[in-house]
Amino acid sequence: MNFFFAITFWFATAVITLGLGYKIRQYWRTKAPLRIPITPAPSTRFGVVLRMLREVVLFESLFKANKWIWILGWMFHFSLLLVMARHLRYFQEQPWVWVTLIQPFGKYAAYPMIIGLSGLLLRRFVVDRIRYISAPSDYLMLIMLITIGLSGLLMQLFFRIDIIEVQNYFVGLTGFRIESLPTSALLILHLLLVSLLMMIFPFSKLLHAPGIFFSPTLNQVDNARKQPKRSISLNQASPIGANDSKGNHG
Ligand code: HEM
Repeated sequence: MNFFFAITFWFATAVITLGLGYKIRQYWRTKAPLRIPITPAPSTRFGVVLRMLREVVLFESLFKANKWIWILGWMFHFSLLLVMARHLRYFQEQPWVWVTLIQPFGKYAAYPMIIGLSGLLLRRFVVDRIRYISAPSDYLMLIMLITIGLSGLLMQLFFRIDIIEVQNYFVGLTGFRIESLPTSALLILHLLLVSLLMMIFPFSKLLHAPGIFFSPTLNQVDNARKQPKRSISLNQASPIGANDSKGNHG
């Protein structure tokens, strides 16, 4: 088991790191020749940064679109952030002070996380319009996250394990040493699903996390009228497949 999880987590870490690197590079290099910010849009770079911050921290457009999905989505994402911050202790021999300080609050984050995810899953079953456009992976992703949360919460509440041993094991893995892991069915389930999550992250819809920063409708400055030349030359890109004299795509 110790050896199995060591290989699995080293492999999963390589997949998520290289996969994310590859995808982000792909997004970075994709040209967005047309000015298509959703209006009203900021006309300065600073304004774009503020808009992006509101989007990432408050989920502003979702708030305007649908209050139910907003509250459920926001609950899930911000509890997840707290849970992840609390989990940092498993990877540090001497956890940072703030990681230690948030432990008592992070303890309760599992509840809003599971409630938010369950609401989002229920919506896929009961809202006809959403059920129609839901793919099996949409359900599976939510079920996987709920199972990770529930198995974690059960370990925290009823089936206690030696978390110092878990910490030693994962700190060991960061230094390519294999220590021993407590034997617990819930921990095995938790870790199997976490490693699966890491491996599918770069190739699934979960990629929206880094992807939002590359969304042209959100990250563009609304300056087409102030810089007509630039906007026109970019807007008159050659047809798809055509190359310029240097061989670059239009
Ligand atoms: C290698 C990565 C991970 C390890 C070693 C790990 C380990 C653990 C352990 C040992 C517990 C029980 C804590 C206790 O008894 O107090 C736990 C709880 C929990 N885990 Fe994980 N986990 C990992 C990743 C994740 C991920 C990626 C998620 C979410 C997607 C997650 C969600 C939770 C939740 C919600 C709880 C219950 C609340 C809490 O104690 O923080 N875990 N985890």
